[in-house]
Amino acid sequence: MSMNPKVTMKKIPFVSLCFLLGLLLYSACKNEPIQPEEPGEPDYLAAPSGTTPIPANQQRNGDAEAGREYLLYGDYVSSGIPIDVFNFAFDGDGNLLNRTGDNADLPYDFTAINASNGVRIAAANCFTCHAQVLDGQLILGLGNSLADFTDDQSSVVPTVDAAINFLHGANSPEREAYEPFRRSALVTGPLLIAETKGVNPAAELTAILAAHRDPQTLEWQADPSYEIGTLGVPSDVPAWWLLKKKNAQFYNGAGRGDFTKFTMASGMLTLKDSAEASAIYQHFGDVLAFLFELEAPDYPEVVDATKVAQGESLFYKNCAKCHGTYGDSPTYPNLLVASTTIGTDPLYAQTATTNEFFLDWWNNGWFGQALQTSWLQPFDGYIAPPLDGIWATAPYLHNGSVPNLETLLNSSKRPTYWRRSFTNPQYDYSAVGWQFTIESSGNNKAIYDTTLPGYGNQGHVYGDVFTDEERSAVIEYLKTI
Ligand code: HEC
Ligand code: HEC
Repeated sequence: MSMNPKVTMKKIPFVSLCFLLGLLLYSACKNEPIQPEEPGEPDYLAAPSGTTPIPANQQRNGDAEAGREYLLYGDYVSSGIPIDVFNFAFDGDGNLLNRTGDNADLPYDFTAINASNGVRIAAANCFTCHAQVLDGQLILGLGNSLADFTDDQSSVVPTVDAAINFLHGANSPEREAYEPFRRSALVTGPLLIAETKGVNPAAELTAILAAHRDPQTLEWQADPSYEIGTLGVPSDVPAWWLLKKKNAQFYNGAGRGDFTKFTMASGMLTLKDSAEASAIYQHFGDVLAFLFELEAPDYPEVVDATKVAQGESLFYKNCAKCHGTYGDSPTYPNLLVASTTIGTDPLYAQTATTNEFFLDWWNNGWFGQALQTSWLQPFDGYIAPPLDGIWATAPYLHNGSVPNLETLLNSSKRPTYWRRSFTNPQYDYSAVGWQFTIESSGNNKAIYDTTLPGYGNQGHVYGDVFTDEERSAVIEYLKTI
């Protein structure tokens, strides 16, 4: 067609006319209906100052069902505890994942696999951090805000060592199959002690493992290649169903390029080398397809339709410019918001910008360069996340410092010290979040102490302008998205 001079001739003036007019009247040439605007009505969806849009990158395709299968049964973590020792020491959970074979006897956060020497082991999986029971239902992809990382996770190593030596012997294949997991547990456990139950040290975990691995071959090195002194702080865990809208992974938007490289990073716990990493990588196009298919769970209780409508319009005017719109034709602007603008605790984001060793290790090593490229591009601030299923993902903010939506949207009501039950956690469907009690001081691992560095609950004051009635309407609307 473009070889036909007549067509070309006709197109040139049209295109340039559009271009000129476009400077004045952007959408007029796009054949789209123009939304009638009230005179003087502000553009509620224009990106506010202090924000930066994140560009999209091409992602791999795959088979979602195969990805699910791999997450539930696969050997992306390839070392662990011999299965007889595991089953002797730990109970199952009644098969919450409905898995088959010997996996039916394991709790959902472990997978029975064959180690490379053929020994059957129980290996940790993604669901330690990316699944949670909420009112009796296991929700895959919900960030686990009930995990307890306040103890040295390697404290079980001597007991497991003794059990393996007793049952199989110190030079047995069972001991060999356990060794990669053991050595990682020993170097990471003592460094990853959280101050509060429920927060997650995965970012620090990855940085420590990087110090113990050659960036190209990924082989283990006993001595860390840099001084692991300045560890960051833990975070909450984002829900997996949000990923399909996001152009970058992680709270600070640092994960750019091929998502599967970041998504498979827990393999660093037990990898032998980059050949094993490449084999795992082959499955992660499927895993990504599975993550992209996940949907947020529906709010289980009845909502008030009149309040929802009122809340929707308040949300549109006050919140949608950063968080997007929901419903039949959703939009999402993918904005990073500078720490100075959002005002939430900056330490988590800032630590990521200063860990130069880890940035270089990732960006110039196997994870950054091999196969499809991925890179870490940390930012001093946070992504304004999609809010699909926000009712289920308390506590709120990147550090999980705010127990419910009511206090998130009313900053003067946020508790400085608050406690929830970790043995019998109760959800509050009206304030939307965890039932909690206000405490007068911290110094207890079940109490969230917002005075600790990185654990602050300040900032994000956009809900403060509302009257109580308006806030309650916005919360009613948030239950439905
Ligand atoms: C030890 C806990 C832990 C384990 C195990 C873990 N993750 Fe994560 N994951 C996290 C935390 C914490 C974050 C958030 C870090 C951040 O945003 O800075 C995260 C972030 C992610 C994200 C990005 C989500 C987003 O919206 O930005 C994806 C995708 C993801 N993990 C997938 C996986 C998969 C797949 C596995 C298993 C192969 C896995 N994770 C294992 C803790 C974990
Ligand atoms: C200037 C952009 C901006 C505006 C306006 C804004 N937000 Fe946010 N919002 C953010 C950012 C950035 C975060 C993440 C902050 C963090 O985690 O430290 C966030 C976090 C949240 C969270 C917590 C998400 C989670 O998973 O923990 C909720 C809920 C939320 N916003 C709701 C709202 C509502 C409701 C409004 C309107 C009243 C609003 N926001 C207005 C940028 C914005």
